[in-house]
Amino acid sequence: MGDAEIGIRQGTVEDHAQARGVIAETFAFHQREAPAFFRETDDPPPTRMAIEELLRDGEGAWFLAEREGSVVGFVTVRLRQPSREPSLVPEVRAVVDSLGILHAWRRHGIGRRLMGAAEAWARQRGARRVMLNVWEFNEGASGLYETLGYTTFNRNLWKAL
Ligand SMILES: CC(C)(COP(=O)(O)OP(=O)(O)OC[C@H]1O[C@@H](n2cnc3c(N)ncnc32)[C@H](O)[C@@H]1OP(=O)(O)O)[C@@H](O)C(=O)NCCC(=O)NCCS
Repeated sequence: MGDAEIGIRQGTVEDHAQARGVIAETFAFHQREAPAFFRETDDPPPTRMAIEELLRDGEGAWFLAEREGSVVGFVTVRLRQPSREPSLVPEVRAVVDSLGILHAWRRHGIGRRLMGAAEAWARQRGARRVMLNVWEFNEGASGLYETLGYTTFNRNLWKAL
């Protein structure tokens, strides 16, 4: 099955229903691996309301990977305008909040293509850097981001009390 059969396009709010399967699979994976953080839910993120909010002011977008009319992957991206805080570098940045590919369609280059679409969108809007969080358990996503040139600039720590 060649990559040519998979199309990447920008999504609308109406696409949320079609993307629900891959959204649910992506969230279930995180919930399973980080149950101290994520609860089971019937309305996994990004919810339709979150996508509506993301697309409202042109400061965010989502891209879908489709095969024969079915959504097999998605990515969300939003701009973060420069901070006015004098101690911080005033740089337009983009944040990738959510990315997922249906299990059956992994390792076909779709994650790479979706990230490329998100980065191009952000670059065209003046972003100089893309930021994202990845869970320590998530070796697959870490592998993808490393391949794409992302490096760790901060680590979040926690301790159960
Ligand atoms: C992480 C994820 C998005 C990768 O998507 P994908 O479409 O399979 O990735 P690609 O096929 O574009 O991979 C491109 C390159 O990234 C690296 N990569 C991708 N998956 C990897 C894995 N599981 N382990 C190590 N490296 C990996 C490889 O270098 C790969 O190139 P190769 O296949 O030629 O070796 C996908 O595994 C996924 O949806 N995982 C569950 C949800 C998730 O973790 N989302 C990200 C949350 S931060």
